[in-house]
Amino acid sequence: MIQLIFENREQIQQEAAERVLAMLQEHPTAILGLATGSTPVGIYQEIVKLYTQGLISFKKATTFNLDEYIGLPETHPQSYHTYMKRNLFDHIDLPVEQAYIPNGNAPDLMEECLRYDELINKANQMDLQILGLGHNGHIGFNEPADSLTNGTHIVELREQTRLANARFFHTLDEVPTHAITMGMGSILKAKSILLVVYGEEKAEVAFKALTGPIQTELPASLLQIHPNLTVLMDKEAGRLFND
Ligand code: F6R
Repeated sequence: MIQLIFENREQIQQEAAERVLAMLQEHPTAILGLATGSTPVGIYQEIVKLYTQGLISFKKATTFNLDEYIGLPETHPQSYHTYMKRNLFDHIDLPVEQAYIPNGNAPDLMEECLRYDELINKANQMDLQILGLGHNGHIGFNEPADSLTNGTHIVELREQTRLANARFFHTLDEVPTHAITMGMGSILKAKSILLVVYGEEKAEVAFKALTGPIQTELPASLLQIHPNLTVLMDKEAGRLFND
C-alpha cells in the first residue's frame, strides 16, 4: 500500500486525473472502475480538462460504475446515471455502449446483478479502480456486515449512509433505502486501486481501515490485502497517519 498525503484537494484531483491519463496513454482499451459521491467530482473535472486539451481519449476505454440506487428513475438528478453524465460522460468521448452502470430499476434486480457480473467477468478485471470511502467504512455500497459479498448484489443502505447522502436530497425520506453494488470480489480483483479520502471527518475511519484489523464490519479494511493500492488523502483525512 502506498499512502500519499497532500496539502490540498486540488493536488489530489490532478494526481488522480494524471493516473487515469497515464493508464489510457499506455492502454487505450483500459477498463476503469468508477465511483460517484462528492469525492471524485473534482477528479472528473480534471479529467474533462485533460480531454478538452486533447490529451486524453476514452474512445477505446470501458468503464464500470460501482453502484446505483434502487428505485430512483435514471433521470433523477441524484441517480448515479445522471451523476456520471453530468460530471463526466457528457464531456468526454467515451462511447455510451462502453459505459456500464447497474440498473437500479431493472424489473428483476437479481437478474440485473447476474447480468452486471457477467459483464464484469467478461472484462475480467478493472485496470484501475477509483474508490471513495464511506463514513462507515463502506466501499461502493458494500456496507459493514457480518459477511461481505463477492459479486454484484442488492444492499440495504445503513442509516449512517442514508444520513450522509441526505445532503444530496431535499429530505432524508427521499434517500433510497436500497442500492445495487459491485461486490468486494470484483473490487479487490482490480489490477490497481486508487482510494481517495478527503476531510477530517474521515480521518478516523481511514486510519482504522488502513492500519487496523481486517474485518467485514469495516469493508475498506479489506483493501489492505490488495497488492497495488494507492491511497490519496488530504492532510485532514491523513492526520492520524502523521502522528
Ligand atoms: C459511490 C461510492 C461510495 C462513496 C462513499 C463516499 O459510488 O462508491 O462508496 O465513495 O459513500 O462518498 P463521498 O465521496 O460523497 O463522501
